[in-house]
Amino acid sequence: MVKTTVWDVRDYTSNLKDYPNLSEIIETYRQGGLIALPTETVYGLGADATNEQAVQGIYQAKGRPSDNPLIVHIYDTDQLDDFVTNVSETTEKLMEAFWPGPITFILLLKEGYLCESVTGGLNSVAVRMPSHPVARALLKEVALPIAAPSANLSGRPSPTTFEHVYHDLNGRIDGIIQSTQSEAGLESTVLDCTSFPFRIARPGTITRSMLNDILPNGIDEAQFDNSDKPIAPGMKYKHYAPETPLKIFNVLNRPIDEAGQQDWSQTAFILPESFVSLVPKEAHIIVLSESENDIQAASHNLYAALHQLDELTHITRAYIYGYPNNDEAEALHNRMVKAANYQYVEGEW
Ligand code: TXA
Ligand code: MG
Repeated sequence: MVKTTVWDVRDYTSNLKDYPNLSEIIETYRQGGLIALPTETVYGLGADATNEQAVQGIYQAKGRPSDNPLIVHIYDTDQLDDFVTNVSETTEKLMEAFWPGPITFILLLKEGYLCESVTGGLNSVAVRMPSHPVARALLKEVALPIAAPSANLSGRPSPTTFEHVYHDLNGRIDGIIQSTQSEAGLESTVLDCTSFPFRIARPGTITRSMLNDILPNGIDEAQFDNSDKPIAPGMKYKHYAPETPLKIFNVLNRPIDEAGQQDWSQTAFILPESFVSLVPKEAHIIVLSESENDIQAASHNLYAALHQLDELTHITRAYIYGYPNNDEAEALHNRMVKAANYQYVEGEW
């Protein structure tokens, strides 16, 4: 057991420089400590990306296989010169358009600066410049590239609140920076810029159409899930799914028949507020959004809902509303479909 310090910076979101314990946080990172930090996507578990021992500590604390490489977080594009090479003009254009923000670029690695286990021996490196004001201020102050996977135990959903991080990692890391719930709620888009045309290795808030608007030749439309050789090494590992069997449903325009003798008290529904009156009263309700079209709210709340579901020990089955399947919803669907192991409600509830 390590003592995990909690640094509550909620009153310093836009002025972290005034936070009295900032220097303690920065010193801990510089000495190779592990500190979870808020970002606009999900909370990350950060450590100095140039320090081999620190990065090994990340894999250990998460119980993560060491051949699944980490994302390196930066404050300024000038830092790229230290550890990437051959950045194309098109990639620079994308960086200008979307950084700081929820997109990660896979770039060619320049060896010798980052420690080896960050990239798991690949000749490429994943880089992101987060926009969360706390993350930005930390990256600027620490003046080091910070390796940070999502701050969950391997096999658990990504954390979108301080409580989620605390639940998984208290006693395993040096500290947690407490901020509010992550805005986007799903992990960043991962775009592989090392092959041509560029490929989405993981869908996220920056959508396919937003990328196509900037890319002269578009992106590779190959389905990231169906390629036999996964382009994000993490894809080969089992994605998180809750203990409770979960199914996706796509229509609910009239009440579910309550006359049918079913006991609904062990059933949970994860859905928009606008559908609540249509499901049996005895069922457990988790609201994802107000309206059935609000993809942003559903994305923001999905992981918190799945965390909640795992804690409801009396629930034996759960149903989640599928939301419209459009460009904006690609990331939401990607995570939801995996959490449900590709199971849909067909006919019978
Ligand atoms: O939003 C996010 O991206 C969060 C926050 C903390 O920034 N981080 C995150 O990290 O989701 P993680 O480690 O949970 O996911 C990183 C993904 C993994 O699927 C990994 O396999 C992939 O990026 N990846 C990392 N380096 C790669 C590389 N060189 N080539 C291809 N995929 C890579
Ligand atoms: Mg993760």
